[in-house]
Amino acid sequence: MNEAVHPEQTSECKRIRINSIEFFNDTSDEVGVLRNVLIAGISGAIGSSIARELIRRDPEIRVFGLCRQPDKVPEEVRTASQVCLMRWDAEKPGDADEMQATLARALPYDTGLDCVIFAVGVLHGGGTFPEKRLEDLETEAFLRSMQVNASSFGMLVKSLLPWLRHKSFKRIVAISAKVGSISDNRFGGWYAYRSSKAALNMLVKTLSVELPRRCKPVACVAVHPGTTRSALSEPFSRSLQQLEVHSPHETALHILAIVDDLDESRNGCFLSWDGEELRW
Ligand SMILES: NC(=O)c1ccc[n+]([C@@H]2O[C@H](COP(=O)([O-])OP(=O)(O)OC[C@H]3O[C@@H](n4cnc5c(N)ncnc54)[C@H](OP(=O)(O)O)[C@@H]3O)[C@@H](O)[C@H]2O)c1
Repeated sequence: MNEAVHPEQTSECKRIRINSIEFFNDTSDEVGVLRNVLIAGISGAIGSSIARELIRRDPEIRVFGLCRQPDKVPEEVRTASQVCLMRWDAEKPGDADEMQATLARALPYDTGLDCVIFAVGVLHGGGTFPEKRLEDLETEAFLRSMQVNASSFGMLVKSLLPWLRHKSFKRIVAISAKVGSISDNRFGGWYAYRSSKAALNMLVKTLSVELPRRCKPVACVAVHPGTTRSALSEPFSRSLQQLEVHSPHETALHILAIVDDLDESRNGCFLSWDGEELRW
């Protein structure tokens, strides 16, 4: 099930793709170069746009993309030779073990990952919608938000630890949201989403303490991507009209500018899409 697959998914195709990744065993420790990047949420507007930009700018890069449904990943990303898709569902904890086993076959630990981008998120769907008032708060929707938006990030980084021990600089970027800022919460509402993003931010902060002891050099940051046209923001498009709304491509460029600029001094920061530091 959780194979490192080319989307055409013939067994031949899987074998060739896995072999080509095994062949890619570069242990250069040049600082700052992105060679192996993992994107969780590669089917989403922001995740797929980041992947598209990475493969456009570097034919040598390897992008490991996690998603529930490979068919939902845009074709030019799905079929790119640099991309390897793996099935992973944030609501199925067992998937992390399977993903880890698949990645171990595809990418040696000592080659490792240079960058992990967590672009997974849920705001509505499955009969739930952001709460306008306390009476709308429901346990099931709240727990789902917590699992998808927050705890799955921690579990993912835990699964990826063996690939984060190499000596080169590693970037771990959690796509969060400004509404997860506790000190910036002036409007209220959106209980589950806000709480889950605040929890994600706390995971980032806590990891930023532990990871330098175990995976130095590293920077783990939370990033507000800016309001972006996507399935997640679509139900709010009318109320977003007064706001600056970016295309997914613009957002990908903003996030990659942050990724490119990261160094250890920014470990544990909450950054806005323009690189400004946000209050937790
Ligand atoms: N768009 C904005 O204005 C905005 C603003 C602030 C923050 N953000 C954050 O940016 C991130 C990306 O959002 P987006 O705008 O690109 O939205 P999107 O297009 O809806 O993408 C969301 C991604 O999350 C994945 N996902 C949802 N539930 C999952 C699960 N159970 N297991 C695995 N993957 C799951 C989706 O996979 P499927 O394709 O399988 O559903 C998709 O890849 C999110 O964290 C969001 O909170 C967005």
